Amino acid sequence: MAAQTKGTILVTGGGGFVGGQIIREALESGFAVRLTARSASSAARTIARFPSFATSLSSAIVVDMTTPEAYEAAFADGSITHIVHSASPFNLSPQDTLRDLLKPAIKGATSILEAALRYGGGKVKRVVATSSFAAIHDLSTGAREGYTYDEKDWNPVTWEEAVASTGTVAYCASKALAEKAMWDWIAAHKAEISFGLATVCPPWVFGPYAHELRDTKTLSESVQLLNVIVDSDAVPAFDFGGYADSREVAAAHVRALEVPEAEGKRFLVGQDFRYQAAVDLAREDPELAKRLPVGKTGEWVPAYHIDGTLATRVLGLEYGTLKDTATQTFRQLVKARELEAAA
Ligand SMILES: NC(=O)c1ccc[n+]([C@@H]2O[C@H](COP(=O)([O-])OP(=O)(O)OC[C@H]3O[C@@H](n4cnc5c(N)ncnc54)[C@H](OP(=O)(O)O)[C@@H]3O)[C@@H](O)[C@H]2O)c1
Repeated sequence: MAAQTKGTILVTGGGGFVGGQIIREALESGFAVRLTARSASSAARTIARFPSFATSLSSAIVVDMTTPEAYEAAFADGSITHIVHSASPFNLSPQDTLRDLLKPAIKGATSILEAALRYGGGKVKRVVATSSFAAIHDLSTGAREGYTYDEKDWNPVTWEEAVASTGTVAYCASKALAEKAMWDWIAAHKAEISFGLATVCPPWVFGPYAHELRDTKTLSESVQLLNVIVDSDAVPAFDFGGYADSREVAAAHVRALEVPEAEGKRFLVGQDFRYQAAVDLAREDPELAKRLPVGKTGEWVPAYHIDGTLATRVLGLEYGTLKDTATQTFRQLVKARELEAAA
């Protein structure tokens, strides 16, 4: 391992969209990173995306993240000082809600905490988990015009409702119950642990992947929502009223590991969002204008607001613009489609 000053972060889900940006941000901030992956080939694929950080990036194979024992080797050399838990099934059309979403999300969330306690040797200082606006938003209230969501809000879904749910509702339930399980675990183990918890709760995450996207086959569900707009003739209807840029989400995770006051806090990282506004702003780029539908220019469907200012106050997070996020996302998708077509 190369000389480094800030410690080593164990990152789960580093092969994904959000996890990749977290790895990039962590490495660029001076941390070493140990990513977990379900197979050696998946670990190698992720490591290859960061060639200039080869000496500060390592991996550990965690075949089943729902068992604490699976992490024993990841902690074995005693170097882990921080943890980012980003792995969770992001699947908006599960076949079996319990098997595909609830069990891996919830057991995965508490297993990493249990593993940090059992195998961390008292060296782990902070755990940051990628939760979601799905854990904040009360889906039963719909567009809720005039309401402002912030960290005090919780998706009120119960276990019984979660098990009986499907689709997007089930995914949101998996995120809410997984985050609750983490806070409950922390409260129950307070006397024994060396670390505290912070959670990052973004709405739809858009923005670029950290690596060059060469195809559109395995996009995160959120990026796929923008991908389907390219070369289509319709702008999607309102679903959720918030977004965050992938680079901001990554910065929030890394700062929440470091800022003392972040411990014990949830951070709603994001801003208001409408598909039509994203398309209008991206269409200011003449190349993108050729690939995106016009829709109802200027339309802004009334709905709730997203208050992401706690992340600015505590973490010093500065938000960018929807124009930049939308433009960067669509440009990367258009390029990936070209590479795919040429392959
Ligand atoms: N994108 C968004 O709009 C958004 C918004 C809020 C929160 N989030 C959260 O951000 C995190 C990452 O999402 P993403 O958008 O980056 O999606 P993604 O690209 O699909 O990545 C998901 C990651 O989680 C891992 N994972 C999923 N199920 C797993 C399991 N059972 N065991 C081990 N690893 C598993 C995947 O591992 P493999 O690479 O091995 O498949 C992948 O690395 C998730 O916690 C998601 O809930 C995303």
